[in-house]
This record gives sequence, structure tokens and C-alpha cells, in this order.
Amino acid sequence: MSAPGIPRPAPVDVAHHTHLTGVFAPQRAEVDVPDLEVIGEIPPELHGAYLRNGPNPRFDPIGNYVYPLDGDGMVHRIELDGGRARYTNRFVRTPMVVAEERAGHAIWGGVTDLYTPGVDEVGPELAGTGRDLPDINVVRHGGRLLAMAEAAPPYRLDPTDLATLGRDTCDGAMAVGSTAHPKLDPVTGELVLFTYLLDAPYLTWSVVAADGTVAREPTVVEGLREPLMIHDMALTERYVVLVLCPLVFDLAAALTGGALLDWRPDDGTRVALIPRAGGPVRWADCEAFWVWHFAGARDLPDGRVQVDYAQWAYPGGFADLDAPCLGGLVRATVDPDRGRVDRQILHDRDVEFPRIDDRTLARARGRIATIGKRGPRDGHMDSLWFFDPDAGTETSWDPGPLSVGEPIHLPGTGSDYWGMLGTDRETMASWFVILPADDPASGPVARVRMPIRVPAGLHGVWLPQM
Ligand SMILES: [Fe+2]
Repeated sequence: MSAPGIPRPAPVDVAHHTHLTGVFAPQRAEVDVPDLEVIGEIPPELHGAYLRNGPNPRFDPIGNYVYPLDGDGMVHRIELDGGRARYTNRFVRTPMVVAEERAGHAIWGGVTDLYTPGVDEVGPELAGTGRDLPDINVVRHGGRLLAMAEAAPPYRLDPTDLATLGRDTCDGAMAVGSTAHPKLDPVTGELVLFTYLLDAPYLTWSVVAADGTVAREPTVVEGLREPLMIHDMALTERYVVLVLCPLVFDLAAALTGGALLDWRPDDGTRVALIPRAGGPVRWADCEAFWVWHFAGARDLPDGRVQVDYAQWAYPGGFADLDAPCLGGLVRATVDPDRGRVDRQILHDRDVEFPRIDDRTLARARGRIATIGKRGPRDGHMDSLWFFDPDAGTETSWDPGPLSVGEPIHLPGTGSDYWGMLGTDRETMASWFVILPADDPASGPVARVRMPIRVPAGLHGVWLPQM
């Protein structure tokens, strides 16, 4: 967004911002360190790389800083090979980061700021632009390694040294943008994605074929009357599953000093089942709820669709770390014939970042791993939870002083594992922790010490044989 005559914003009060201090404080060093210190033993069968992207402003920000959208991207990589570990991290160098490095300070405001820099400050190509924010996720597909933004084209990275190569639309499949959470079908090799738009028609979906070419150009999802924020998606063999919660972009309000996003619970939440093979979208309705992240989904034999996700009563979760428990892990059954959604609460404590074994994506079965809160503890996510909804079991691991991040499934040749980053709230040392998937409550088989502090959040991926 831009509006003429908006003055340059004031610096953010970094020292008093929850998401710019403590375990969230930005990391400005870029390093490449082999032979990391390991407590325990890294399973030698784990051969590949764990990558994680996350908000990490290159300079102290100006204007507003809205976590988790604002910040610049920084990609962290932990390569595992023969029981040894190597760490590399790099900023995602958008043209905005490059211009700010030239200036030595922040030039652009945050995602909700109306200010944009002028031609005298950043030149004609960047004048009037907003900051690109490929800081949410990292995806490998069709020969590309991509740093993903919320609703814009991603940036391509060099897989050898993580250098930024520039914007990449995947031959046009992401021409109008992409969610940060596209879904890779492990059977077909397709990357399925959506993006929301602030202008009509508000929502499209598209598909990148396994070889990186376009399988479906951006295709309009009909039926939206206003722009909605939609962060994640689910995928089954038959459907793209989009959950449309009533979080509405209100540009008119924003331009007159109001909030950019308006929560309208009376509108309810709608689920769109978009046939992957084409054909009309099927809709189902539900009382209002908010979802940031999905675990998995699958088609049921009777035509219904089962979707597992971390539910919030309203979208306050990340903005306010001290928010009360709002929801939990939910299994929704979407019936397109009745047009209704039935929800079953699997776990009623705060959980987030649900992940599954990505090899079962679109046909989800097995365990769901999440982070969660045992107690208030300043709101930090202080525990890991593992659920098997089909078996009705749950277990957890207490990481002690570590604030932990999203768990990622690490498939081995014999056993499987879960890997996640955590930072000690007292010492600020960061660790990559490896838990056995068959008994995560027994604790780590290995803790790999990071050579620098890795800021908390957001999303990562395991890339075998990188
Ligand atoms: Fe996310």
C-alpha cells in the first residue's frame, strides 16, 4: 500500500517489543560453521539438511513491527551427514534489504505502514514500493529452493550457499503470488498453492508440476465478496481445502486510521473444497473460528473430507503471547453434500505449528507433532506434544529451559525422528534437538549446539540428500 504525503515512520521501540527481544531478537551475523558440538549422537542414517526461514529484520525496524509477517527473511540450514552437523545462515536479500544495506539503516516501514520511500532515497525502481517479505517458509520443489512470503511471489535461493537469486514465479504459477504454505503432494510431485489478493477476484489457486513447469495457471476461486486473510491450506487426493475465516482486509478503514484487518465472527467460517481435477467449488459452513496452520487432511470413503488443524477462537494468537487458551487441536469433518462442518476437539490446550510426516500429506495418517504451553511462563511455547488421533493417544516432551519451535519429521532409513530448534531462555544458546519418533517422551538422541543464537520462529523443512 502507499499513500502520498505519509511521513517517514519513527523507529520501533526495539527494547520493549516482545518479538524483537529475548529468544526473538534478530540475528545479524551470517556464518558457515562445520563440525558443530553434539551432545548425544546424531543418527548416521539422517543424511540431508534441515532448513528454516523466519522474520529477522536486517536493521532495527521503523514504523510498525507486526509479528510474524514483518521482518526480513533469514534462512538457517543444519546439514547432517554421517553423524556430523554443519550450520549456515543467510539473509534473504530482497532489493529492499540490498538498498538498506547500502544506506546502513531501515528505509521501509512495516507491512501495515502506509509510508513508502521516494525516488530520491531509493531510486525509480523501488520508489513507492512496499517491503517484500519472503520470511515465512522455505520450500524445495522442481529444482528450485524458495523463500516463501505470505501472499506474494517467493525468492529463489542458491542451494549451495543460500545466496539470493531473485524473485521466482515458478514459470507463472505464482505470478500473482503464493501462500507461504503450498502443499507438495508426495505421490504426484505437484506443488499446489493458493494466494489471496486485496482486489477482486480476491483468491486464486494454481499448481506447479513435479518438473517445475506450470500444471495449472492461477485460477480464480469464485464466490468471495471481500478480501480475506488466509494463511495456510490443506490438501487431499481430491481437493484443495481452503478454510475461509472471517478476517477481512478493510483498506478503507486503514486509510482513515483504522485497523487493516477486521474480525467479523457473525460471517462465520466457510470451507471451500476445490476439486483438483477441475469443476465447481463445493462449500460448507461453520461457526466462526480462526486457523493459522493445518496438520493434514484426507478424503473419507463416503465423500467427506477430514482436516486436522490448530484452532483459535479468534486470530490473536501470535500478536499477543499472553493471550488465554483459545482453542486446541481439532479434527473437522467437512460434508460437501450437507454443506456443513463438524468439529471434534482432539486436545483443548494451546498448541500450534502442527506437522505430520510429509510423506503422508494429502492422505494423512499417523502422528501429529505440535508445540504447546504447559503453563504461562511468559507465554513461551515450552513443550512438544505428539498426537495420534486415530489411536486416540497423546504424549509430550518437556524441553526444560528451551523455547521450542516447529517440529519437523526426519525420516531415517530405519527409524524416524522429529527435529526442532530451541533456545535456552536463560543462556540464549540455541540447539537443534533430535527426538526419536517412536518414543519422543524419552527425550533427545542428540542436541546439536548452534554456533550463534537462532531467533525463534517460523517454518522449516527437511530436505533429504541436499
Ligand atoms: Fe505459517
